Amino acid sequence: MAYNKESMKNIVVVALSVCLLCAIVVSVAAVSLKPQRVANKHFDRNKNILIAAGLYEEGKTASSDIDKLFKRFTIRVVDLEQKRLLSDAEVQELGIDPATYDQRQASKKPGLSTELSSQEDIASISRRARYSVAYLLKDDDGKLDRIVLPIHGYGLWSTLYGFLCLKGDLNTVYGITFYEQQETAGLGGEVENPAWKALWEGKHVYDDNHEVALRVIKGNVDPKSPDAIHQVDGLSGATLTSRGVQNLVHYWMGDGGFGPLLAKLERNTGN
Ligand SMILES: Cc1cc2nc3c(=O)[nH]c(=O)nc-3n(C[C@H](O)[C@H](O)[C@H](O)COP(=O)(O)O)c2cc1C
Repeated sequence: MAYNKESMKNIVVVALSVCLLCAIVVSVAAVSLKPQRVANKHFDRNKNILIAAGLYEEGKTASSDIDKLFKRFTIRVVDLEQKRLLSDAEVQELGIDPATYDQRQASKKPGLSTELSSQEDIASISRRARYSVAYLLKDDDGKLDRIVLPIHGYGLWSTLYGFLCLKGDLNTVYGITFYEQQETAGLGGEVENPAWKALWEGKHVYDDNHEVALRVIKGNVDPKSPDAIHQVDGLSGATLTSRGVQNLVHYWMGDGGFGPLLAKLERNTGN
C-alpha cells in the first residue's frame, strides 16, 4: 500500500510528536534555568535591600559590588509570634537558612503561618508567616546603624513587596523600596519613583507612645505642620495605592509585625 503523507493518522502522529518535543524542550529549559532564576531573584532582593539602606544608587553603584556591599549586613531571623530575634542555634534547629528564607512561600503554609482576622489584616495579606528576617547594619563600634525590614500589603490591583529601612533610633525612616507591584504605571506604579521614595527619608514612624503615626496623606505635606514629621505626600491620582502603602506600613511596624521587636531593641540599645 502506498505511503500517504497526508493521512489523518500521519497528521496526528506528527502533531503529537511536535507537541511532545516542545514540551520536553520547555521542561528541560525550565528545570535547568531554575538555579539561575533563584539566583537572579536573590540578587534583585539584595539590591533592593541596599537601595532601601542607601548603599546602592542606580547608575552609580556597580552591580558587581552588590554581593560585597550586601555582606555588610547581619541577617537575623525574627519570630513574629514571640516578638524577638532568634539565636543562631534556634535558627539552625528550625532548619532556616536566613540568606534564602522565603517568607512569601512560608506565609502560604499553614504550619508556618497564621491566618489573620479581618480586624488584624489591615494590609490585606490574609496570612502572616511566623518567621521573618531583619537585615542589620552596624557601625564601626558595633552599634546598630540601620535595620532593613521586609514589608508587603495590598494596594489597588496588586500586593506590593518592598523593604523599609530605619535608622539606628528604630524610628526614623532611612529609605523605602518596592521591588514588586502591579499597580498602574504612572498612577499607583509611582511607588517606585525615586522622587516619591525620597520623601520618606527622615520621617518618623512612631509617636511618643510608640504608636504607628506615619501617614500617606492626600495631597502635599505642609512642612510647617507639627504633623509633617509623620506625613508623606500621597501619590496624585492614586489615593487607593497610597492608602495601601500606609496600611502596610502600619501593619508591619505595628503590633502584628515588627513593632514590639523594635520597641524591645530600642529599650535595649537605650536610644
Ligand atoms: C485605568 C485606571 C487605572 C487606575 N490605577 C490606579 C492605581 O494604580 N492606583 C490608584 O490608587 N488608583 C488608580 N486609579 C484611580 C482609582 O480608580 C481612584 O479613582 C483613585 O485612586 C482616586 O484617587 P484620587 O482621589 O487621587 O484621584 C486608576 C483608575 C483608572 C481608570
